[in-house]
Amino acid sequence: MTVAVRSFAKINLGLYIGAARADGFHDLRTVYQTIALHDVIRVSVGRGSGIEILCKNKDPRVPLDSSNTCYRMAELVLDELGAKGRVSVEIEKRLPVQGGLGAASSNAVATMVALELALPKTRARKKKLSEPARLRIAAEVGSDLPLFLVGGTALGVGRGEEVYPLADLPSLPMVVVMPEVGVSTPQAFADWDALMGSGAERSAGQPGAAVPTRIWTGGDARRSIGNDELTRPGASDRLFEVGCALSAWLSGSPNTGAPAKGGSRAGNLLLDLVRTGIENDFERVVFPQYPELRDIKGALERAGSRYASLSGSGSTLYGLFQSRADAAKAASRLRKQGLKAVATSTLTRRQYWKKSLVASR
Ligand code: C5P
Repeated sequence: MTVAVRSFAKINLGLYIGAARADGFHDLRTVYQTIALHDVIRVSVGRGSGIEILCKNKDPRVPLDSSNTCYRMAELVLDELGAKGRVSVEIEKRLPVQGGLGAASSNAVATMVALELALPKTRARKKKLSEPARLRIAAEVGSDLPLFLVGGTALGVGRGEEVYPLADLPSLPMVVVMPEVGVSTPQAFADWDALMGSGAERSAGQPGAAVPTRIWTGGDARRSIGNDELTRPGASDRLFEVGCALSAWLSGSPNTGAPAKGGSRAGNLLLDLVRTGIENDFERVVFPQYPELRDIKGALERAGSRYASLSGSGSTLYGLFQSRADAAKAASRLRKQGLKAVATSTLTRRQYWKKSLVASR
């Protein structure tokens, strides 16, 4: 049987990099948001054994060996289910490689979903992966994977693998710009460490911590995270302010002193995000090395974006727009400037899961 699933991308609505940990990872806080741009993953299972990775459009930057996240995922899923077979994973690449859109991570989660459906059901093996097993396997393959088991708007903490679903943002019009250059995430983290080691101000100009009480779909946020760093009094944390902005907006009460009067709900949210001043820390190390990316952020702003940012460690930039028409107009203007720009929208959790399955035969 062959199962095809859409492997959606993500953006980061703000990204705060914390301290380097003993295991080499960095604590971070971010709001992940799934978007409609996607690759397609086709998984089939036949007789025999072994895992084969194919890339339909033969992008030379996609590894076809065991270092591919889809390979590692297929191996772990077969192990966990005690299943056998020859697994073929075909990647139809549309998303940029090393683009900060989480494509390789999303591809691996799509492989998990498709492989489970494609495996023949036998009495000998457990029928389904348990939820804890899914999350454990996802986190084992990479920090950015578990978010794709949630979808929609989610808070990411720990090394990014600890995800909490937030009340969903509505589908927002946006423009994504995909520059040719790729940015290595480990290198960007190393550059961040070098910048902080050089005595650069970590939180210059940031206001004191604002403590949201209800940014979750349920429960007490701080208690449920159980992370000492997050409860440290006075820790400056714009991501919590984002949580405040989002939850206040979603509950209909403005978080800022001066609420946006009139206009659409999405428009008000965008103004709140801008006022909150959320930032992606990676911009501070990536923009000086790739000044053209800073220019693209400026171009997005000039094209009418209400909020523009680097996604993850880049190189992709995105801008959120008030309307689909505005986004379409901006994308066309940016294309005329020679940029690879597409108009798309963010995906709610419900849309994410509804649109995931393409075909199964
Ligand atoms: O988990 P993932 O495979 O995506 O991480 C790739 C690399 O990025 C890690 O080996 C580490 O160097 C860096 N990283 C980090 N802190 C994180 C996530 C990733 O330093 N929170």
